Amino acid sequence: MKSRSEAVSIVGMGYVGLCTAATFASRGIRTVGVDIDEARVEQIRKGKAPLHEPQLDTLLKHAVKSKLLEATSDISSANDTDMTFLTVGTPSQQDGSIDLSYIKNATEDLGNVLRGKRGYHLVVVKSTVVPGTTNGTVKRFLEQSSGKNVGSALGLCANPEFLKEGTAINDALHPDKIVIGSNDMKSANRLTRLYRKFYGPKLPPVILTSPEAAELVKYASNAFLATKVSFINTVANIAQQIPNVDVGTIAEAIGLDPRIGSLFLKAGPGYGGSCFHKDLQALINYSQNNGYDPTLFRATEETNEQQANKVVDMAETLLGSLSNKKVVVLGLAFKKDTDDIREASSLRVISQLKKKGAHVIAFDPMAIANTKKQLADQISYADDPHSVLKGADCAIIMTEWDEFRKLKPKDFQPYMKTPNIVDARRIYDPKEFSRLNYVAIGLGASR
Ligand code: UGA
Repeated sequence: MKSRSEAVSIVGMGYVGLCTAATFASRGIRTVGVDIDEARVEQIRKGKAPLHEPQLDTLLKHAVKSKLLEATSDISSANDTDMTFLTVGTPSQQDGSIDLSYIKNATEDLGNVLRGKRGYHLVVVKSTVVPGTTNGTVKRFLEQSSGKNVGSALGLCANPEFLKEGTAINDALHPDKIVIGSNDMKSANRLTRLYRKFYGPKLPPVILTSPEAAELVKYASNAFLATKVSFINTVANIAQQIPNVDVGTIAEAIGLDPRIGSLFLKAGPGYGGSCFHKDLQALINYSQNNGYDPTLFRATEETNEQQANKVVDMAETLLGSLSNKKVVVLGLAFKKDTDDIREASSLRVISQLKKKGAHVIAFDPMAIANTKKQLADQISYADDPHSVLKGADCAIIMTEWDEFRKLKPKDFQPYMKTPNIVDARRIYDPKEFSRLNYVAIGLGASR
């Protein structure tokens, strides 16, 4: 008998859920995307991504047209699929601990649906959750609401994702690994089979482990990356005190040691984005509650927080005082090619500049709308990188957008009141900019 091809449902059409759904469908896997937000569902049905991610719109359009992806707000559609991925958000609570309310609601709703299902159903936790959540909260809510047992009628796995904003589709199509945490081989095999279908002969290494270990892999990964950024920012701040030293050279040299590696050694204004800060806080809080204080990760976070002050100090040193000065912030997004400003270092820098009495005017190619939602008229906004500089006392480069990288000294000097530049992203050649009042993160003073 020819077996019917596997169908999956994905609960939570946020960034991870939507990218996962679009890539599954693009490889011929019938996928149902579920979200409680009707407007979002409607938009997905039209083949339009409700968030900015390169390639996503194209994949989505094809997926919807080919009917391999169906979007719905009715979770009972999960009943007609073989497995359900949970990709709902896990935000921070006030104390930094993880907020599992979306996970609980989604699990309960799913369990209620699965109560009437005949046959086996696999539940896969893809949301970032602290160790023990899959086997604890999720299992408990699932068993209670479905009236079934994990291990017999239900399978349960933890399967974290490692997608980066801006390259999420490529990351999903070419991951360096797949991590599957399960209590039994049946559920692990089911999920591996799906990924084998997805990747064919290009199946990446599959790490089979316990749910708790899979959950920790995700946190360890983000904690390491964040620590690498805080590490190079620390080296940058030391380098900056030494004449004729540039952190770029230090990073290049140490990066050649394969034990260190060259990636993620770009000094800057500190990391941002929806994950690093949230995940480090959750991990710190989780560990402290278990009786161990992870001092390294606290230092990673503190170093990151301080890096924004470092950027503001550099502007203050150039200007003497920031009070009543017109300071231009070039870049609001937490990295280039996104409109996302969550936890962006620009926000920390802007807050410090305001405290010191500066008039802040900002430009970003994509993130102004999101910034307006958060900061409203606390700062002014410009429509292009040229007009923003008119009469400015200082410009701070906060995001490494290509269109800023293209700017030359002549694009700054004639327009600014004084050509004070703080390059917090190291996008300019110090030699070329030396005729302006140019300072940069990790660049030793006199040359
Ligand atoms: C990060 C991880 O890289 C992903 O693997 C993970 O799946 C994701 O979080 C998540 O948990 O969802 P993302 O937040 O999209 O991805 O952004 P990254 O590209 O990792 O950058 C994070 C921040 O670090 C940015 O503000 C970036 O500018 C900064 N960064 C990065 C540096 O300052 N220097 C570097 O060398 C690299």
